[in-house]
Amino acid sequence: MFPQSRPRRLRARQNIRDLVRETELSVRDLVYPLFVNENLTAPKEIASMPGVLSLPVSDVGEEARCVEELGIPAVLLFGVPSRKDPGGTSAGDPDGIVQRGIKEIRKASDVTIITDLCLCEYTDHGHCGMLKGGDVDNDSTLERYAAIAVSQARAGADMIAPSGMMDGQVAAIRAALDRSGFENIPIMSYAAKYASSFYGPFRDAAESTPQHGDRRSHQMDPGNAREALREMSLDLEEGADILMVKPALPYLDILHRARERFDVPIAAYQVSGEYSMIKAAAANGWIDHDRAMMESLRCIKRAGADIIITYFAKEVARVVAE
Ligand code: PBG
Repeated sequence: MFPQSRPRRLRARQNIRDLVRETELSVRDLVYPLFVNENLTAPKEIASMPGVLSLPVSDVGEEARCVEELGIPAVLLFGVPSRKDPGGTSAGDPDGIVQRGIKEIRKASDVTIITDLCLCEYTDHGHCGMLKGGDVDNDSTLERYAAIAVSQARAGADMIAPSGMMDGQVAAIRAALDRSGFENIPIMSYAAKYASSFYGPFRDAAESTPQHGDRRSHQMDPGNAREALREMSLDLEEGADILMVKPALPYLDILHRARERFDVPIAAYQVSGEYSMIKAAAANGWIDHDRAMMESLRCIKRAGADIIITYFAKEVARVVAE
């Protein structure tokens, strides 16, 4: 009790603050999302995500090399195809945009290639799966996911990250990978993925906004926490190696509970809207860009994330190196 106890003693000098800091952020914790877009011949900045580029396949290798040189261990690859159809067929094409992107990255660098696996970028209706009577049909979608996972692994993906929130998707993908000799390819499951307004800017980048309806029949209700733990238990039983919570900052309680409950690595996705809010406020001079960026990420790590997927990864590398 005061006056014996004075917590301010350990805050008096920067050196002491450094010594007693519980959570340190490192570029080694980060994953950088990459967008490879079949419609482009030159890099194009995503209007709602300042500093983030959508890349033609010819530029993705160079970008991956740059990411690797900054010490960032992994990229999360998204593809935007030039042709979309109701079944999202190009998602599993051996010459599809993601498959070509993977090969270009592998040629240029040793960075770990994690592939997002969903149909929303590939279907003309923009939904994450196959439609039946206007609804996203779970079980026929699983067959598609399984085939896409194998085609991504064949192209050279190091890890598969299913983001569609279909029931049973991890089991279906695990079984298909194992059958095809990819038993050593890990699955990072978007296990607790919420139906969030914070994905808005991403859908511009990925050209994946649903043409009608929304994703609330498969993504989680933001009011639910216990259900997130149930989703994660199921994914773990189905064979997930890493469990993800998404978005990150508004869901720190979920991250914390996941960290306490499960002994596998926990990933957090600081999504496009979280990124763009900081960018927009900083551009207006309302907050300090670098401090807000570092604080948001440090807090995500403190809450329990081992791995953080963030559009800030390259800028963090710059700040940490300063
Ligand atoms: C689905 C997917 C989405 C994001 C990652 N994977 C969009 C969605 O579910 O609508 C969002 C990422 C972000 O907002 O940064 N393929």
